[in-house]
Amino acid sequence: MPLRGENENMSGTVARFGAEASLRDRLNRPMRDLRISVIDRCNYRCPYCMPADVFGDGHDFLPRAHWLTPGEIKRLAGLFVQLGTNKLRLTGGEPLLRKDICEIVAGLAEIDGVADLALTTNGSRLAEHAAELKRAGLKRITVSLDSLDPDVFAAMSGGRGDVATVLAGIDAARTAGFAPIKVNVVVERGRNDHTVLDLLEHFRGSGVIVRFIEFMDVGTLNRWQPSQVVPSKELLELIAARWPVEPLASNYRGEVAERYRFLDGAGEIGFISSVTAPFCGDCHRARLSADGTLYTCLFAAAGMDLRGPLRAGASDADLVGLLQNVWRNRADRYSELREELRRREADRQRIEMYRMGG
Ligand SMILES: C[S@@+](CC[C@H](N)C(=O)[O-])C[C@H]1O[C@@H](n2cnc3c(N)ncnc32)[C@H](O)[C@@H]1O
Ligand code: SF4
Repeated sequence: MPLRGENENMSGTVARFGAEASLRDRLNRPMRDLRISVIDRCNYRCPYCMPADVFGDGHDFLPRAHWLTPGEIKRLAGLFVQLGTNKLRLTGGEPLLRKDICEIVAGLAEIDGVADLALTTNGSRLAEHAAELKRAGLKRITVSLDSLDPDVFAAMSGGRGDVATVLAGIDAARTAGFAPIKVNVVVERGRNDHTVLDLLEHFRGSGVIVRFIEFMDVGTLNRWQPSQVVPSKELLELIAARWPVEPLASNYRGEVAERYRFLDGAGEIGFISSVTAPFCGDCHRARLSADGTLYTCLFAAAGMDLRGPLRAGASDADLVGLLQNVWRNRADRYSELREELRRREADRQRIEMYRMGG
């Protein structure tokens, strides 16, 4: 553990911790990827994430004073980068609800060694913000859109989402120069699975990469049942029967989506199959919540507070020591053990996705 009170600046940290790019957890996984949730609030109420009957108007979200500031986010992210992280993704809650989102992006864009800086949004405010996000230095955008059917989409967003607004956001992102844009589709049996082909028909040939995500048992409030999951394999067969596809190689080790391309040249699609084909063995991802808690798994029950030490004056060396300790002790592989853990720890309270960041 480094000495508390050592007053180092960031360049001192670079020199001291550069060698730690080899940091590994207990399953020999590096810390390559950091998801930063900048807010736990959202203007949607997707039933698989923040069901409207649970998250009413009076819901107790984090007080704003607990949100990390743009400067704090930049400082922590810089330390992750010293420890081998090279991909950053901003998420939430809905990240575009933060008024200072462009300041956050601009700060992260200044960190040396970041190969990728991305953001996931529900698209409801993207039309207004796409150009300024690009100017601030954001490299990639993923937009969530579960159906093009207005009624189905309304149901999938808790009655709050409007398809035309999200499509306008995607267009604005394209105009601003983001390419390729990805669209995330959570597929839930009996709710939106019958609209998948229409959605693909719309985006085929547009350059947008649609990725289908299996409905996951994140948190404990979405009343997840295995029967609600549409396995990616089933979806792939449905799609391939209409438009033949072939598999593509991963872009990099640890990529969570399995990629396919349409044989007629109309582009690429992906499948994220955390339930039926867990990828824990290659999970290089840490998560930082809006209040500065570090989580080492999407299905975690607890995390490590970094905001406390940060605001109490911890040096970079102190904070790096905390990060190293947490990562070296990491052994999470929830998705691989899902059935056993759900049986054994039925009452375990997992942290909700809107809180730790999707
Ligand atoms: C938590 S959201 C945060 C960012 C933004 N609000 C959005 O919806 O894109 C990030 C991603 O997680 C996905 N997601 C949320 N709950 C999920 C669940 N239970 N299973 C699978 N994906 C989920 C969302 O669809 C979205 O693509
Ligand atoms: S998935 Fe995104 S848009 Fe939907 S409720 Fe969760 S945070 Fe909001």
